[in-house]
Amino acid sequence: MSPTGHTLPSAPRVLPGDGAPPLTRLGLGLAVALAAACGGARSDVTPARKDAGPLVSTPAEADPVVAAGGAAYAKYCALCHGATATGYAADNAPSLVSRTFLESADDAFLARSIELGRPGTAMAGYGRDLGGPLGERDIAAIVAFLRDKGGVAATVPLPPPLPGDPERGKAHYATMCQSCHGDASARGPNVHLAHPTFLALASDAFLRHAIVYGRPGTTMEAFASRLDGGQVADVVAYIRSFAQPVATSPALPDRPVTPPTGPDGPVVLNPKGKQPTFTAREGRFVPSVQVAQALARKQRLVIIDARPPSDWIRERIPGSISVPHYDTSSLDRVPRDAVVIAYCACPHHASGVVVDELRRRGHAKAYVLDEGVLFWKKQGYPVEGTGGPDPHAGHDHHHHHHH
Ligand code: HEC
Ligand code: HEC
Repeated sequence: MSPTGHTLPSAPRVLPGDGAPPLTRLGLGLAVALAAACGGARSDVTPARKDAGPLVSTPAEADPVVAAGGAAYAKYCALCHGATATGYAADNAPSLVSRTFLESADDAFLARSIELGRPGTAMAGYGRDLGGPLGERDIAAIVAFLRDKGGVAATVPLPPPLPGDPERGKAHYATMCQSCHGDASARGPNVHLAHPTFLALASDAFLRHAIVYGRPGTTMEAFASRLDGGQVADVVAYIRSFAQPVATSPALPDRPVTPPTGPDGPVVLNPKGKQPTFTAREGRFVPSVQVAQALARKQRLVIIDARPPSDWIRERIPGSISVPHYDTSSLDRVPRDAVVIAYCACPHHASGVVVDELRRRGHAKAYVLDEGVLFWKKQGYPVEGTGGPDPHAGHDHHHHHHH
């Protein structure tokens, strides 16, 4: 069997309706239009919580939409953003409930961030159109849950941003911001501000609000004391200059993509090959270099992508099968004697869930890909997939030619 023998089951088809309105076909072009049109004002995308009074934190049980959103959050999001949504359970994953965030991020920013993800980071696209698990209504419920949790029912009016000079902003950015937020060629430890999907959704007023007021309780300080209004506008203009022309971003798939529902094709790679012997740190974590060697030597193993199927569709290790951490039922088909490697992007949480489940089922040789798939790609090890919107999130910048 060839390692590339796993293909998407037949042609993409339109998923049957679940009663929810069809997902908006939101290409980045529309996303830009949307960000521009909203200009920091609240949007009317999510219906559920309009009536909630400000500052009243309803107990989740009291509101079925919030409760449904909380359940979905616990299943899909908590492993990275934390059980209380305050962030950093996994690398880079920010708080989703800080006051200054929720009072400036409108429902469209939240919903589209969840739907589209930030390709090239650990944040997958959760929208069904991309092959993710969530419909528009599920996403709206999660937004309602986050607003409830953060105690911020809606955005506040934001002042219209001033025009700024990106050249002047560049110097401030380099000394005050870059170490945490990276730039167009490399990411840093915190939200990647040069990410095209982020910039397509974030308004200048949103950026300004974060810079002026910071994110209390995190390392994101309120820069109002160090930068005056004009300087903040310059920094915003510089961040905006990272945005890539929309036309250079590959379009989203024309039609909804059918996610692979698990291993309904071949599961074992190189079934006739020799079994690899891995040296696993703590008996659990196998370095990428060993797995890359096993692949190159056509050894017998099973590779599991533990991320949402949208990520598998976009970019995966060749021959891997999709078993998302939140639905491991398809592990039934993985033979007990096989050496199994599970991977994700974050880099251990989702893969760790799958490995725990495999071991619970009696698989002795199930391991986590230690550094995760983003590192794997950065090393130049093989990946395959549709590509999808590739933000060059600091990993593969030099393969492209629009400097
Ligand atoms: C595997 C880890 C992971 C999981 C699971 C995950 N996220 Fe994220 N999320 C991230 C990371 C990392 C970022 C920041 C991207 C970056 O580095 O720029 C992010 C960013 C976001 C943002 C944008 C925040 C901002 O400040 O710009 C939202 C909103 C979000 N996630 C919501 C969710 C929701 C809701 C779920 C569940 C449906 C979820 N995420 C699941 C890792 C994750
Ligand atoms: C010491 C690290 C650090 C520095 C320096 C820093 N930030 Fe941040 N920034 C963060 C963190 C952490 C967050 C997210 C906090 C959270 O989880 O809510 C953040 C959030 C942001 C956000 C909001 C992103 C979003 O999607 O919510 C913007 C915009 C931002 N920072 C801009 C800047 C700018 C501009 C500068 C320089 C003037 C700067 N930051 C300096 C750590 C930093």
